[in-house]
Amino acid sequence: MSRKVALVTGGMGGLGTAICKSLHENGFKVVANCLPGLPGKDEWLNKMRADGVDVSEAEADVTDYEQCAAMVKRIESDIGPVEVLVNNAGITRDAMFRKMDKGQWDAVLSTNLDSVFNVTHQVLPGMAERGWGRVINISSVNGVKGQFGQANYSAAKAGILGFTKAIAQEVAKKGVTVNAIAPGYVGTDMVMAIKQEVRDQIVATIPAGRLGKPEEIGDLCAFLASESAGYITGSTININGGLHMG
Ligand code: CAA
Repeated sequence: MSRKVALVTGGMGGLGTAICKSLHENGFKVVANCLPGLPGKDEWLNKMRADGVDVSEAEADVTDYEQCAAMVKRIESDIGPVEVLVNNAGITRDAMFRKMDKGQWDAVLSTNLDSVFNVTHQVLPGMAERGWGRVINISSVNGVKGQFGQANYSAAKAGILGFTKAIAQEVAKKGVTVNAIAPGYVGTDMVMAIKQEVRDQIVATIPAGRLGKPEEIGDLCAFLASESAGYITGSTININGGLHMG
């Protein structure tokens, strides 16, 4: 059986790397998207290959619709149709709302939410036509519950949840599932960038008593991409060590 092509946006970041690895281990042909000219890209690719992870790269700024269209065309002609899309690209620009400027708002909304439109729009019609597909949107516990200092991020990640439920209904009869994963605090650079005292206070509120591991998110992604998950759609899967129970 030929391997299905899985595209992971922001595939070279903390969560993205773990998602790429899990999808590879579960038999997908993985394509990692990154920003054009991302520093460290070649080192990342070399490291993945040294670890036995077969992954291709696809450059595009996911905030730019035309770049996303061109990226998906290239993947489809060079590798094959995208059958699994993981909308993972995301950034933080944390600040209390009264100190948050328009640039911080726009950067987070365009990278974390507009990107989901820009990339999904390129692949969903093909998935529906072929009668099989998986769209997995990486939201956040902070999109579910809101977070002090994250009006921009919480809004974008909550927007992803509405998008997921709407699109899931449109393609449910076509064999395409659309789900959101809402990770809690995972030990990636994004979380390690929070001031230590603030981070320690947050970890103290997590019933599991620890940060999540990136591979725990990667493995959940691989499950949602699998045949076994074909009846799960429009769902938000919380994976947060009990920090917020939906
Ligand atoms: N609830 C209520 N009050 C809080 C609070 C909270 N959660 N956090 C801070 N405060 C209070 C502080 O006690 C302080 O009060 P006083 O002025 O009375 O002392 C006041 O708010 C200001 O707090 P800071 O000193 O922290 O303010 P700052 O401007 O230096 O920093 C901030 C603001 C950048 C938002 C900082 O609080 C912060 O980093 N918070 C964590 C935000 C966070 O969780 N980000 C997640 C990033 S990782 C991620 O997003 C991945 C994912 O999906 C989970």
